[in-house]
Amino acid sequence: MEGEVVIIGAGLIGLALARELAHRGAAVRVVDTGEPGRQASWAAAGMLAPSSEGLDGAFYDLCAASLARYPAFAAALHEETDLDIHLRREGFITPAYDDRGVAKLEAEVADARARGFGASMLTSVDTLRLEPSLAPVAASAHFEHEASVDNRRLGRALRAAVEHLGVRLDEGLPWVRLAATQRRVNGVETANGFIPAPVVINAAGAWAGTLEGVPERARVPVEPVKGQILALGMPANLIRHTIYAEHAYLVPRDDGRLIVGATVERAGFDTRVTAAGIHRLLDGALRVAPALRDLAVVETWAGLRPGTPDGLPYLGAGSIEGYFLATGHLRNGVLLTPITAEVVADTVEGRAPRVDVAAFSPERVHPTSKAAP
Ligand code: GLY
Repeated sequence: MEGEVVIIGAGLIGLALARELAHRGAAVRVVDTGEPGRQASWAAAGMLAPSSEGLDGAFYDLCAASLARYPAFAAALHEETDLDIHLRREGFITPAYDDRGVAKLEAEVADARARGFGASMLTSVDTLRLEPSLAPVAASAHFEHEASVDNRRLGRALRAAVEHLGVRLDEGLPWVRLAATQRRVNGVETANGFIPAPVVINAAGAWAGTLEGVPERARVPVEPVKGQILALGMPANLIRHTIYAEHAYLVPRDDGRLIVGATVERAGFDTRVTAAGIHRLLDGALRVAPALRDLAVVETWAGLRPGTPDGLPYLGAGSIEGYFLATGHLRNGVLLTPITAEVVADTVEGRAPRVDVAAFSPERVHPTSKAAP
């Protein structure tokens, strides 16, 4: 590829894409107004859960394809950086407390099995045998294919990987804007100067919709969707599976923390941790597992997921020449990191991706705005 590719946004998505493009031989530079891997990438719980997240259609297929890539992705990062991203594959347990909940889970298990995944219903006794700290359930579902990673470790590993590959990382920039005409990108303007580039990829997460310099015909709406989250200090193996309940999810970490998430709030760019938010999470968690009540709260935080009007990400070419997007992953950015890197790198190179990404084209926002010849 002629010239440098500039990626705006050094979250998991931007860093994974930089790594992928650098592996393919491109000269890549990443710019960010903050610290790499620190926004939604750092705030997330790291669940890899296409079934539990209630997805369907092409989006489920995309998420399942990304989940399938995770073991090799984790192994490659370990090989490249010596960092372990703590991929945990015990699976997810979703509890049900009444007949309606059990019927819903049975349908989800049948759907997962029809897709070839290992999923099964567990009796109340079997559930408590696997997870003795849970409150009694009517039944539960075990989604064996679902997993989690430590997203903060993943951010560190991706950063180390791209630095090892010679990718230049400009972080903490006071401002960044796209330099473009109505027809094509010319590069990126930053507080430190102009970076000429024939290809610019907007991977700015919840800020992708407010990037300055993007012509109207290529702008896409992105709404920040706040998630408050907390961590409990947990005795080893008190909870072993991710517990995906209606009012809270519990994600065990290898480092002894239990992540409890997350609120879903439309509150603009507000990232305050609130009394009501933490109350809701703790109430949900203690209903699921009263045995957690004496654990210490070791951390609270909030992050902004990038939401889109139709709930689907923007992956690929964005209405003007040289402009691409990789954002809008809402609740599934960690899960979609490997597949996003692959398919967006494919579209940048002008190749057809191995999975169908037509539904995720950013051009769906402006269907009539294709550049005139
Ligand atoms: N993936 C779960 C969340 O965003 O809360």
